[in-house]
Amino acid sequence: MAKKSPRKHSSHSVVLIPGDGIGPEVIGAAREVIDAAGVKIDWVPGAAGESALKPHGSLLPKETLDAIVKYKVALKGPCTTPIGGGHKSINVSLRQGLNLYAAVRPVRSIEGIKTRYDNVEMVIVRENTEGLYSGIEHEVVPGVVEALKIVTERACTRISEYAFEYARGHARKRVTVFHKANIMKMADGLFLKCARAVSQKYPDIAFNEMIIDNGCMQIIKDPSRFDVLLLDNLYGDIISDLCAGLVGGLGVVPGANIGEAGAVFESVHGSAPDIAGKGIANPLAAIMSGVMMLNFLGESEAAQRIKAAYNDVLASDNPKVRTKDLGGEGGTREFTRAVIKRVQKG
Ligand code: NAI
Repeated sequence: MAKKSPRKHSSHSVVLIPGDGIGPEVIGAAREVIDAAGVKIDWVPGAAGESALKPHGSLLPKETLDAIVKYKVALKGPCTTPIGGGHKSINVSLRQGLNLYAAVRPVRSIEGIKTRYDNVEMVIVRENTEGLYSGIEHEVVPGVVEALKIVTERACTRISEYAFEYARGHARKRVTVFHKANIMKMADGLFLKCARAVSQKYPDIAFNEMIIDNGCMQIIKDPSRFDVLLLDNLYGDIISDLCAGLVGGLGVVPGANIGEAGAVFESVHGSAPDIAGKGIANPLAAIMSGVMMLNFLGESEAAQRIKAAYNDVLASDNPKVRTKDLGGEGGTREFTRAVIKRVQKG
């Protein structure tokens, strides 16, 4: 059967940041799938990560930041932050530099990906700019270091409002805040106080709070009781990976970093140096992040078509097009080709 010609769409400019490790492989796959769906995107190359250090003299070159500020949307691969050597995390710098204050990470059970749970349908909303990730650490005296957890009423209120607005806008019913205010009475106490205050303005959305250690146990026991999770920066980072484990691992959880000036779409996973260059990385999380981006750009028809395509490919249960992390025998290329074939069928 002849392929349908790609549908016509208005043109967008998107900064494409391949990143490090498996980044170029999975971002390349996401780009191919989006292009195959016929969305007209002018991809503006952006360098970041270890791979940018030599040619640009910086892990996060100013040109890349300027391009995101200019075009307002980026699709980004994971970046390796060298440990030691005084380098600040590129991701933290990017999120703080562009004030991308909300990380949004939908975590869903997917038909065809078998795990112990089949009823996960939650969205993690993580504060992305402060907390323990403020990067303020110093040595008090030799052998004693101090890391500061910066918590502001402004950022806590803003992320709480984002979580409730998200819940309302996506027909979700409940926001649960995780905290450790029993120990960090002032820092987490302020986060909790702001979440409670904001919850009062949303009587249509149920609100509950949990001490995070109990929250972890409750998630593992029964993830279906959670809907929107509201977390500070560190807790959000950790809980994102924990929740990824409920639905098939890091290869299947996408994400968006949203701010007033722009949005950067990226998977939850890192650069996975253990499998980089082997052609076995799962590109699904990057493709899903691309779908979130298309929805953000108003390209919901193409987004829906890509989503239906990867859902179909996974539901078909063909091990040849399934990546190894999902128990298959295929690699990045096989899965990407199968998705493209299905996307082009319409
Ligand atoms: P990681 O997420 O890179 O890997 C954890 C495990 O998951 C590894 O076994 C890896 O093989 C597997 N994995 C991850 N993504 C996968 C995929 N798409 N398909 C199949 N398997 C996948 O976490 P790790 O090892 O802690 O971090 C490695 C590097 O990534 C570090 O330098 C870290 O700073 C960076 N990182 C960057 C992020 C970003 O740019 N947004 C986020 C998290 C970590």
